[in-house]
Amino acid sequence: MNVQIAPSILSADFAALGEAIARVERAGADLIHVDVMDGHFVPNITIGPPVVKALKRVATKPLDVHLMISDPDRYIEAFAAAGAAMLSVHVEVLPHLHRTVQAIKALGVKAGVVLNPSTPVVALEEIAGDVDFVLVMSVNPGFGGQTFIARSESKVAAVRELLDRSGNAAAPIEIDGGIDLQTAPRVVAAGARILVAGNAIFGTADPERATRDLRAAASAALPAGSAAR
Ligand code: DX5
Ligand code: ZN
Repeated sequence: MNVQIAPSILSADFAALGEAIARVERAGADLIHVDVMDGHFVPNITIGPPVVKALKRVATKPLDVHLMISDPDRYIEAFAAAGAAMLSVHVEVLPHLHRTVQAIKALGVKAGVVLNPSTPVVALEEIAGDVDFVLVMSVNPGFGGQTFIARSESKVAAVRELLDRSGNAAAPIEIDGGIDLQTAPRVVAAGARILVAGNAIFGTADPERATRDLRAAASAALPAGSAAR
């Protein structure tokens, strides 16, 4: 499995999101990561389905929509209709996670489940065989530009082991928070294959170069035998 780079537009200029997406797509970004926050589950408010719909008009890469909201069941249809190709929901807010994952898949969207830094891997034990991907938060969600939590490396390895044991070896692990040229190789070595990066890409003067550099650093850490790109 190759590494996929998913620039997070949270750190881009919100007055010029179309241009931000075009720049990272030119640099070979695989996905566009969109952070949806509701001011309840996390202490920040960002964007909703109308903006996702507008991004869908300009993006050529799939939209990877991360729902940091208290009641995702209420909105998954709207985000699917807006053009999300991947939807991830936090296990911390969902008492009926199995139902939610099936509902996302029924809409033709890839279903991901997200673990906050303090949420144990065992919370995925009964759902690991059903998900299309797992997103491991390596910072507490809500803001870009935070420091990577080092314990996330062993957590990624534990999630990988659980997915494999659940017969879901094809499901990739995405990681989000504090990913940069230093942390990218470490999380890839631990088993992450989709790398979200906001500040490390859009916080630089040259997001295209930052996207390419991040891919190079991440790909160099792939275990021998993985397909190069
Ligand atoms: C944080 C968001 C992240 C954020 C990552 O709550 O889920 O996607 O954009 O930003 P960086 O890469 O700056 O830590
Ligand atoms: Zn995110």
